[in-house]
Amino acid sequence: MTDTRPTLYLSRLLPDPIMAIVRERFRLVQEPLDALPTPSALRDGLCHADAAIVTLGDRIDAETIHAADRLKLLANYAVGYNNIDLAAARQRGLIVTNTPDVLTDATADLTWALILATARRIVEGDVLVRSGQWTGWSPTQLLGAEVSGKTLGIIGMGRIGQAVAQRAMGFRMAVRYHARHEMAASSLSSGWESRSLQDLLGEADIVTIHVPLTPSTRHLIGTRELAWMKPTAFLINTARGPIADEGALVEALRRGTIAGAGLDVYEQEPVVHPALSQLKQVVLLPHLGSATLHARVQMGLVCLKNIHAVLEGLPAPNRVQA
Ligand code: GLV
Ligand code: GLV
Repeated sequence: MTDTRPTLYLSRLLPDPIMAIVRERFRLVQEPLDALPTPSALRDGLCHADAAIVTLGDRIDAETIHAADRLKLLANYAVGYNNIDLAAARQRGLIVTNTPDVLTDATADLTWALILATARRIVEGDVLVRSGQWTGWSPTQLLGAEVSGKTLGIIGMGRIGQAVAQRAMGFRMAVRYHARHEMAASSLSSGWESRSLQDLLGEADIVTIHVPLTPSTRHLIGTRELAWMKPTAFLINTARGPIADEGALVEALRRGTIAGAGLDVYEQEPVVHPALSQLKQVVLLPHLGSATLHARVQMGLVCLKNIHAVLEGLPAPNRVQA
């Protein structure tokens, strides 16, 4: 009997519950590995598939999009889709989808983990205990910054920015935000106040970034913007690395222009600016924003829902537009 199942290219191994569904419903172009495919393997996979699930580390350029002429849909296993040339996809009629909503809580929770870890010197404390050098409680040991009651500045008030703001209410924080578009007041708490970027950076004790990476947000935070921040303030980035100029950030941290930073994302992942790992006032995570089993399974289900819709000739529920 011939196998009539549609052909899927999967650029990475996904969590087991998703792999089980994928193996049942699709023919795989090739067995996915738990590592980024080479550019030629990626291109080859996309050229032989009806649909594909790709991840944020897969750079999908115009040339690849035009070469993959049988492909109907690229389901990006992420909410951000800066890895895909959307203009080329639109030109070629290739549908691109993402995974909003299902990773909002996981990413907002991780943002809070970084806020607290950075302000309260959690990693330095863990290192001290493990080193065997801890000599006991001290009135002056590893003093951090107060978080409760302070001012949180949120850049980008989409789903994730709003989820971060909601969590701030438990810490009785004043929430200031800077949004690209005027927000519908109904979706926001009345206590959250809009600010220009400069005013937000000047006022906030903790600044956290939640905008997508686009040409207009690349290096949104550079030398000038860091200088607008308070010397006691922290910068948190769980969005995309290139939104903050890493070189400028290193300089600002070295000079004490700001007090510290919590980073989950980097300009050239997985390469991290070597100076960052030398700085104690920085907490570094390996892009864990959506890394809960629950979120990663849901992201897979969202990709599959979009693929099934498109292969049946229906509109994709999570289509993104150039
Ligand atoms: C993760 O970074 C995502 O965009 O889903
Ligand atoms: C992501 O879900 C966002 O819009 O912030």
